Amino acid sequence: MKLSNKVAIVTGAATGIGQAIAVAFAREGAAVAIDYVGKPGTADQTLEKIKNAGGRAIALTADISNPQQVGALIDQTVGRFGRLDIFVNNAGIEFKHPFLEFPIDQFQKIVMVNLQGPFLCAQAAARRMVQQGGGGRIINISSVHEDLPMPTNAPYCATKGALRMLTRTIAVELAPHKITVNNIGPGAIFTPIDADVEANPQMEAALMAEIPLGRWGKPEEVAGLAVFLASDDAAYITGATYFIDGGMLRQAGGL
Ligand SMILES: NC(=O)c1ccc[n+]([C@@H]2O[C@H](COP(=O)([O-])OP(=O)(O)OC[C@H]3O[C@@H](n4cnc5c(N)ncnc54)[C@H](O)[C@@H]3O)[C@@H](O)[C@H]2O)c1
Repeated sequence: MKLSNKVAIVTGAATGIGQAIAVAFAREGAAVAIDYVGKPGTADQTLEKIKNAGGRAIALTADISNPQQVGALIDQTVGRFGRLDIFVNNAGIEFKHPFLEFPIDQFQKIVMVNLQGPFLCAQAAARRMVQQGGGGRIINISSVHEDLPMPTNAPYCATKGALRMLTRTIAVELAPHKITVNNIGPGAIFTPIDADVEANPQMEAALMAEIPLGRWGKPEEVAGLAVFLASDDAAYITGATYFIDGGMLRQAGGL
């Protein structure tokens, strides 16, 4: 197992990519704290999947844009499992509107969750990792949209672009502590965040035409990459973005 004796936190892990990462980490031997927002019980499906795989996990509620709740998330995880080795900034949101009509309150909400959240979480996680010694891993779930423009999605693209530079900058600052920081940039992965496209055959066909491999990615495929980046095999990788997009970015002519 690749993550034996490691302790991980995955944000937004009640659904989608976060759930798949939490389950994959637990299968590789990590003890996992599943962060969620919403009613108690929201993360039960993730907990159940981990239990069925023979893994160890707890569910903790924390809004990642709130400094006090982020602090409590780290403290409760360390209180339960004794340490923190891996932090996955997965939680994210999007609202789509034409730029000329984008409401400021929705812009601000996206910035709070997609940028302030990863900043606060990475900072709190890194402080803990520095204090305990021995290094650590921070993995941010970014997007192809850290490079690729998407009309009607300006705040989302802007926050993912900012996450790219947050990752590069703190990777350099944290390297002396043997803490690596990397991004995963998914393309179109079949999860609740794209429910509008999944429910509309025309929009779905247009999206598939943009993907050389011609299909949605699976959350489990993103989770496999996260396991690699969290493992000792990736000890010399930092400040990088790994795209997992079926070739979407190359076809679009991105960087
Ligand atoms: N699905 C895709 O095609 C795709 C592509 C590129 C990037 N991503 C990124 O992957 C990540 C996961 O998205 P997903 O596709 O699994 O969608 P999802 O909607 O299933 O997951 C997002 C999770 O974040 C949680 N969340 C929202 N606000 C939060 C907050 N303030 N605090 C804590 N948790 C919060 C939600 O409750 C949800 O569980 C996001 O960062 C998203 O931008 C997804």
